[in-house]
Amino acid sequence: MNNILITGGAGFIGSTLANFYSKDHKVTVIDDLSMGSVSNLDTSANIQFIEGSVTDYRLMEEVLTDTQFDYIFHLAAIASVADSVARPLETHQINFDSVFQLLELVKCNQAELKRLVFASSAAVYGDEPTLPKQEESVIRPLTPYAIDKFAAEKYVVDYFHLYDIPTSAVRFFNVYGPKQNPESPYSGVISIMMDRYKKLLNKENTTFTMFGDGTQSRDFVFIDDVVQALNLIATSSETLGEVYNIGTGEAIELSELVSIVDDFLGVSLPIRYDNERPGDIKHSLADISKVKGIGYQPNYTVKTGLEKYVSYEL
Ligand code: UD1
Repeated sequence: MNNILITGGAGFIGSTLANFYSKDHKVTVIDDLSMGSVSNLDTSANIQFIEGSVTDYRLMEEVLTDTQFDYIFHLAAIASVADSVARPLETHQINFDSVFQLLELVKCNQAELKRLVFASSAAVYGDEPTLPKQEESVIRPLTPYAIDKFAAEKYVVDYFHLYDIPTSAVRFFNVYGPKQNPESPYSGVISIMMDRYKKLLNKENTTFTMFGDGTQSRDFVFIDDVVQALNLIATSSETLGEVYNIGTGEAIELSELVSIVDDFLGVSLPIRYDNERPGDIKHSLADISKVKGIGYQPNYTVKTGLEKYVSYEL
């Protein structure tokens, strides 16, 4: 039985990962509940929940001096690109300072650690137009979110090379699935869309706001595939000090996404068009050869993932 720490562990990705590991391992979750919820976590004697922020040095020091962890997943973050444009200073504290602080605390207190996995983002590639994005592609971060993720990711990898701390970083493409909070205007687009479909099916008045013309595209990856990739990366020795894209290798335009769900549900989602968001990337698509090299195989296309999500949510 391993000891696993998941920061942001009550959020969408973190809670799915915590529930997955809690079947066989002891999981400690730290979350400030800004987007996450304790109700996302299974009721399990193997999950210990701590409410607090990863920016709280005292709290993090206490947790990391109390317990020797085998694995740490640092997922706590302001997850929205647009939110980071609205709140650059807070984003920096949460998305960068917390990582640096965690690395130092791990260096001093976690001699038994097998792996620290840091959640970076496809946003680091920015708007350089060459697709698909390989890990070695040009990096052109456009927003506070992307700049902090890239800087933090660099430190994470550097701590392996300089201090032998066992680290890996992952660049998430657009992760979706059950438990993604739709409540904020900065939530992931599929969670917002699903919320609007739910209202539509309940015969409530609703509109989905499309920022731009709907031709922007993303590599949407289903949460179960993300858990598969994270587990492989955390437990493989060849991933030490490395960075991995996590996506599907297929992209879809937002308007096409709406058509798929419209057809599936036999409805027509009312759309209001608005200006593109500042810092928004037009197209994003992952090259996943590197993570496939350690045995990753996405089990969901956007169609099958959406079907599963829709049948779970609606
Ligand atoms: C997303 C993730 C980010 C991750 C990145 C990796 C979220 C909130 N963001 O950023 O954590 O690191 O992928 O690529 O999960 N849109 C609308 N209407 C809406 C909301 C969004 O049209 O109501 C549009 C946006 O303008 C954008 C697209 O949908 O063009 C995707 O937006 P969003 O889901 O916020 O994701 P990313 O910015 O790609």
